[in-house]
Amino acid sequence: MTATPQSTARDAGSDTHRGAPAGEPLLVADDLVAGYLPGVDILNGCNLVVHPGELVGIIGPNGAGKSTLLKALFGLVNVRSGGVTLKGEDITNHRADALVRRGVGFVPQNNNVFPSLTIEENLQMGVYQAPRTFTERFEFIVDLFPVLGQRRKQRAGSLSGGERQMVAMARALMMDPSVLLLDEPSAGLSPVRQDETFIRTRKINKAGVSIVIVEQNARRALQICDRGYVLDQGRNAYSGPGRELMNDPKVIELYLGTLATDVEKASGAA
Ligand SMILES: Nc1ncnc2c1ncn2[C@@H]1O[C@H](COP(=O)(O)OP(=O)(O)OP(=O)(O)O)[C@@H](O)[C@H]1O
Ligand SMILES: [Mg+2]
Repeated sequence: MTATPQSTARDAGSDTHRGAPAGEPLLVADDLVAGYLPGVDILNGCNLVVHPGELVGIIGPNGAGKSTLLKALFGLVNVRSGGVTLKGEDITNHRADALVRRGVGFVPQNNNVFPSLTIEENLQMGVYQAPRTFTERFEFIVDLFPVLGQRRKQRAGSLSGGERQMVAMARALMMDPSVLLLDEPSAGLSPVRQDETFIRTRKINKAGVSIVIVEQNARRALQICDRGYVLDQGRNAYSGPGRELMNDPKVIELYLGTLATDVEKASGAA
């Protein structure tokens, strides 16, 4: 590969949110610098906007900072400069439990259910800050995912990976979030279960919840997203409507690849 992301792939200033609708955004990350260890920045000026009702995808190579961006939005990694706003109000470095009360939901990639608790108890944990809303929210969830109602007494630990992912999303939906942050919901699932996860994500979005989804399965994510961002080395590399990014030759070359060329390269074929 001759082109480096730094030289060719950086979004030019005004293009950072290409294709974003007009109007007040719901969630904004502005020039975020964040990291885990002193003196080591993982996000190096990251930008993201999510408008009401949007389904926004974040893709990029391993280690690009995708999970770190979600964690920075959710108060789980310290933001060193830049800021996060929700409905115009500053929420930078607010605690996760406070963010949940304000309408931000987060589903981490791993350990996102309590395996020894039943489905119903997991969903109760989702509203521990507002237990009286349980019945109403449970009805909403069961309407969206009837299987969770039918199997409410089953322990989460005995569910399949795809089912567990459904419980994790449902738990985050219990607080009626305006925006849901999903970190690689399709990871580790078979292709059919991955498809179900994307369909479920779309269904939640259609029910009125804005979504930010981080995905390894970049093509599939871009198919369902209104807009996508490509992150590289903690910075924005590209952005635009999902299907445009999917068909952009530079994005394909640098970030999507094709199985055919990968296999050819790996086998040394001309
Ligand atoms: N808890 C942590 N402490 C120190 N460094 C971390 C921590 N978590 C992540 N990092 C580092 O931050 C960088 C970005 O990691 P991050 O998990 O955000 O990447 P990612 O884009 O989500 O990658 P992947 O596609 O593999 O999930 C990596 O270099 C990683 O080693
Ligand atoms: Mg990650």
